[in-house]
Amino acid sequence: MGKIIAISNQKGGVGKTTTSVNLSSALAQLGKRVCLVDIDYQANATTNLGVNRSNLLHSSTDIFMSQAQAKEALLRLPKLGLDIIPAKFDLSNVEGALIGDDNKNYVLSIALESIRDEYDYILIDCPPSLGLITTNALIAADSVLIPVQCEFLAMDGLTQLLNTIRFIQNKKQLSQKELIIEGVLLTMLDTRSNVGYEVISEVKTYFREKVFKTIIPRNVKVAVSSSYGLPVTEFSPQSKGSQGYKSLAKELVENNE
Ligand SMILES: Nc1ncnc2c1ncn2[C@@H]1O[C@H](COP(=O)(O)OP(=O)(O)OP(=O)(O)O)[C@@H](O)[C@H]1O
Ligand SMILES: [Mg+2]
Repeated sequence: MGKIIAISNQKGGVGKTTTSVNLSSALAQLGKRVCLVDIDYQANATTNLGVNRSNLLHSSTDIFMSQAQAKEALLRLPKLGLDIIPAKFDLSNVEGALIGDDNKNYVLSIALESIRDEYDYILIDCPPSLGLITTNALIAADSVLIPVQCEFLAMDGLTQLLNTIRFIQNKKQLSQKELIIEGVLLTMLDTRSNVGYEVISEVKTYFREKVFKTIIPRNVKVAVSSSYGLPVTEFSPQSKGSQGYKSLAKELVENNE
């Protein structure tokens, strides 16, 4: 049975999508069966993997609106060895449409249970908010991976995220399910400045053994690869960014064995 991991932090631009895309690819390169679920209306993960949104028959919007099964919305990306449930901009209408629906927090969970057995890892790229879409992801997930950017104000807003996680942990306990913190991932470390190292020390003091040993460096190849619609692990396998995500994939697999 596959593990469902939500990649979440309501702070924008901390590396959620970059981590979703490159960790998915690095896990696939390790021979794992991987599905990436894009539930951000910005659809950056979808675009970064080279998927043309205009030709899509189905997307994660249809799953939320109960207009498609997870299986129907899956796209296979054979060159990358992974699958994706893509997102489209119309996902921004979902929260409004689901208001008043008794089941509104559980739609994604029910949908992903139907494909769980086909994968080792299902990664969910969450939007930068703690709204209904993110709640759906945290309820569907077994664990949450929290990217934290090695920059000023990195810890800002994390209390709110942890409160949300705690709230959902309590909710899930009623159905004997768990939501653990998979790990806190330090991203975009600029090795030339002190700020990044100060953030590392602050985050490690707070989260202790929950912090991944792997730290993702700031690396231009990471940013460039997405404009080519490729994970950096495929675009520039030897780059520091690629090595970072490969090391993260190994660490995550080891932690789960
Ligand atoms: N390791 C890295 N090195 C260089 N650039 C990076 C790295 N990681 C992410 N970036 C760049 O930083 C920007 C923000 O990253 P990303 O889109 O992954 O963040 P996000 O948390 O998903 O943002 P949002 O909250 O908008 O969804 C992107 O332009 C991305 O290319
Ligand atoms: Mg994103």
